[in-house]
Amino acid sequence: MKQSFNQSLTISDSHRNTRLQLCLLTLLIVAAAISLPVAAQSIQVPQPSPGLMPNPAAGKALFEKSCASCHGANLQGNDKGPPMLNRIYEPSHHGDAAFQLAVKNGSRAHHWKFGDMPPVPGLTPDDVAQITAYVRLEQRKAGIQ
Ligand code: HEC
Repeated sequence: MKQSFNQSLTISDSHRNTRLQLCLLTLLIVAAAISLPVAAQSIQVPQPSPGLMPNPAAGKALFEKSCASCHGANLQGNDKGPPMLNRIYEPSHHGDAAFQLAVKNGSRAHHWKFGDMPPVPGLTPDDVAQITAYVRLEQRKAGIQ
């Protein structure tokens, strides 16, 4: 009798431990969920020079040098990357900041199956603004705006 009482004590003790661990785990998850958006907000978007008038022609040359190998010379994509002339990349879905961030940090594969986009080194925020102006012009021509 005494033994079984002890046993049930041990079991309820270990239950309590599990419950405590679950509580701690929940707390951790809640803390992570709260701090993630805060971390996301503090991501710095590279800013082009104030007053820059982005020039699509300059952007075209930069695009051909740095982006066309994956996004296609005519922005139609290829076997390494997606087309930029696609509704997914219209300004309301991927604003100009998305271009600055993709070039600076790369981009995890999430819309397509080409794999991750690596960061593209050697471009200033002004360069990226020129490229974006070129992409926007071609998107407008293709009726994507
Ligand atoms: C090595 C291949 C590669 C190069 C070079 C490359 N990209 Fe990408 N890029 C990708 C792939 C792949 C994706 C799609 C990722 C996904 O969503 O699945 C992508 C996605 C993007 C996106 C969308 C990011 C987002 O927020 O979803 C932008 C904007 C972009 N690229 C711009 C550029 C620009 C501008 C250049 C040139 C400076 C460039 N890329 C060069 C492969 C490349």
